[in-house]
Amino acid sequence: MSQQIYIDGAWVSREDAKVSIFDHGLLYGDGVFDSVRSYDGRLFKLDEHVNRLYLSAKGIGLDIGIPKAKFTEQVIESIRRNNLRDAYVRLVVTRGPGDLGIDPRKCTKSTIIILADKITIYPEETYKRGLRVIIASTRRTPPDSLNGKIKSLNYLNNIIAKLEHIHTGMDESLMLNHEGYLVEGTVENIFLVKGKKLLTPPCHIGALEGITRQTTIDLAPSVGLSAEEALLTANDLYTADECFLTGTGAELVPVVQVDGRAIGDGKPGPVTQKMLAAYREYTKQVGIPI
Ligand SMILES: Cc1ncc(COP(=O)(O)O)c(C=O)c1O
Repeated sequence: MSQQIYIDGAWVSREDAKVSIFDHGLLYGDGVFDSVRSYDGRLFKLDEHVNRLYLSAKGIGLDIGIPKAKFTEQVIESIRRNNLRDAYVRLVVTRGPGDLGIDPRKCTKSTIIILADKITIYPEETYKRGLRVIIASTRRTPPDSLNGKIKSLNYLNNIIAKLEHIHTGMDESLMLNHEGYLVEGTVENIFLVKGKKLLTPPCHIGALEGITRQTTIDLAPSVGLSAEEALLTANDLYTADECFLTGTGAELVPVVQVDGRAIGDGKPGPVTQKMLAAYREYTKQVGIPI
């Protein structure tokens, strides 16, 4: 059976999954999204992802149009209908169709899309080898322009930073804010390891409030580590013992080189490996059964 996709209350096949060319999500990136993952038939941190989606929508004054509980049910249904156990589900809400101006008042009904697919993450080899990254010259959008806590459909800032690492043959870009503080990767949060301490930038400087980030902070004490927020510079990164990125898709992925300089001894470090193992164990234990 072809992939079943939820659009505006109906389940349609991949071939029939279409939106209007007047949708402001397409015309202006006016909308929000989130991604949630299931592990062996259990949806991991589903409520957290749906809550963040609703907060993102509220942040841009977008009425999703259905209650959170109904949205949550449809996310679960998307995995059932597609017979998936290990899935990556994309939740998208756009301002909906309007006219050719940007005025959101012309969009009378939001568009809701729920798309469940197989998960494609970094190959296991990447976790053994680690990522080589650059610090992008493209700065993260300042929070007083577009708050990083809003997971909006407007990812051009991150995509332009991504082009930089693609052009230099590296694996990922790290982004600084306009004051030169380290914020995050293009689609992941960042952690530095110093001794038994995990350090991550505070989200108010421009980062997304990552759910994997929060899970990492929560799990740290269980493996004898402490985690705290700190303003971090490029120098903190160059002199860190270890570095890793966190995200729903990536989980915890080691970073071993930045701007051609080795981080620590240039190999995935023991703290990162311990945290990744603790995270993977945790994903097996929790989650809403499908
Ligand atoms: C800009 C950005 N930062 C961080 C993350 C990581 O967030 P999470 O752990 O909730 O997937 C993502 C991915 O959603 C992202 O797009």
